[in-house]
Amino acid sequence: MANVTVIGAQWGDEGKGKIVDWLASRADAVVRFQGGHNAGHTLVVGETTYKLSLLPSGIVTGTLSIIGNGVVLDPWALKAEIEKLEGQGVVINDDNFAIADNCPLILPLHRDLDGLRETAAGKGKIGTTGRGIGPAYEDKVGRRAIRVCDLAHLDQVDPQIERLCAHHDALRAGFDQPPVDREGLKAELAEIADFVLQYAQPVWKRLKKVRKAGARVLFEGAQGVLLDVDHGTYPFVTSSNTVSGSASAGSGLGPSATGFVLGIVKAYTTRVGSGPFPTELDDEVGQRLGERGHEFGTVTGRQRRVGWFDAVLVRQTCAISGVTGIALTKIDVLDGFETVKICTGYRLNGKVMDYLPSHAASQAAVEPIYEEMPGWSESTAGAKSWADLPAAAIKYVQRIQELIETPVALVSTSPERDDTILVRDPFED
Ligand code: GDP
Ligand code: IMO
Ligand code: MG
Repeated sequence: MANVTVIGAQWGDEGKGKIVDWLASRADAVVRFQGGHNAGHTLVVGETTYKLSLLPSGIVTGTLSIIGNGVVLDPWALKAEIEKLEGQGVVINDDNFAIADNCPLILPLHRDLDGLRETAAGKGKIGTTGRGIGPAYEDKVGRRAIRVCDLAHLDQVDPQIERLCAHHDALRAGFDQPPVDREGLKAELAEIADFVLQYAQPVWKRLKKVRKAGARVLFEGAQGVLLDVDHGTYPFVTSSNTVSGSASAGSGLGPSATGFVLGIVKAYTTRVGSGPFPTELDDEVGQRLGERGHEFGTVTGRQRRVGWFDAVLVRQTCAISGVTGIALTKIDVLDGFETVKICTGYRLNGKVMDYLPSHAASQAAVEPIYEEMPGWSESTAGAKSWADLPAAAIKYVQRIQELIETPVALVSTSPERDDTILVRDPFED
């Protein structure tokens, strides 16, 4: 076995990138299996900060990095990100990087539609990253997508482009937008095709070979379970399945490959964009948490909404995603708070609930029930072992573990790669 699947267990930005980068040196391949360049993963290694959106976080350690078929790929964003990382000294070539040739493409028309819809929705907007993610997944499921493999056959692509553009023209007309310029789109694809194709291959074959050789695969999830299109706070979600189960469908390996499911959990809660957030803090405590945690989006720079830890949500996401153990991140952000609160249940219409209901209006209406614990004045920043943590911080971690009914495998105490406490090695059987 010895594979690990990393997923976000809240609304994203839990610190997946840092943990994947830390684990990558023990892995033989790192695979992204869903989402696109809506993700923003920040890695801090010594003096250098890397910001990744589309590339698997394994690329920084030089580990074989693969973009699986479950990802929606914007070729221009890919090129820009590769060039940026190469500028930071990261080596990327067809030896250590591969893209599934059956990946659907995100095109400029997807970004257009994402923006047009959000603007038209006004206050009811989802607060997307504006990267065209939703429209690209719609076209994939609608069997209209242009895929990476089509870039090698642009001489035959006209009927596909016509079908796709006819669909988009109708939508664009509703926003008073002109039809898509077919020739312009084809010319753009022709220009970028060779760049993408140098990495394209049937990655399921490469992964099959890698697995036969007994290699360890690390699956890197993007977003978080509460943004999952089925299990999240619908409709305020992204357009992919972010749960561990999609690692297999999004890469072309069977479900047994998933291995240890490592849920990444922030020691408090954040969310970007619209939608329900039961423990959200609009007061100076929230402001202090946001400032201490530098809670600004990697992709859009938007200020993240901030709240106390919600054990109801994380118990639910761990169950839904079959989480084996969690990595608890950003515990250092809670240093110096006199008390810390954990949400242990909800009140809805006079009833106590131990889960988040599915209906959007009920999700918006639940009121958190809190348990208050003593905080700690000592610093946990940079701690590398349990012994470095103050007793109150250990109690907080233990209480979380108890409430979410899932053990803690790692604790992260700073953005820096090595400031990580290992409790149980996810790669060990
Ligand atoms: P991701 O999307 O899940 O990869 O998370 P992001 O990179 O968007 O956001 C997490 C932020 O917290 C990044 O800026 C990380 O450098 C930072 N971070 C990760 N782990 C820790 C930690 O344990 N402590 C602190 N203070 N920052 C952390
Ligand atoms: P990482 O991988 C946090 C949110 C957006 C919006 C919703 C839909 O860094 O954790 P989309 O552009 O996907 O259609 O937007 O999902 N969202 C994220 N929030 N972290 C992310 O990724 C996110 N990716 C998308 O803010 O609410
Ligand atoms: Mg992020």
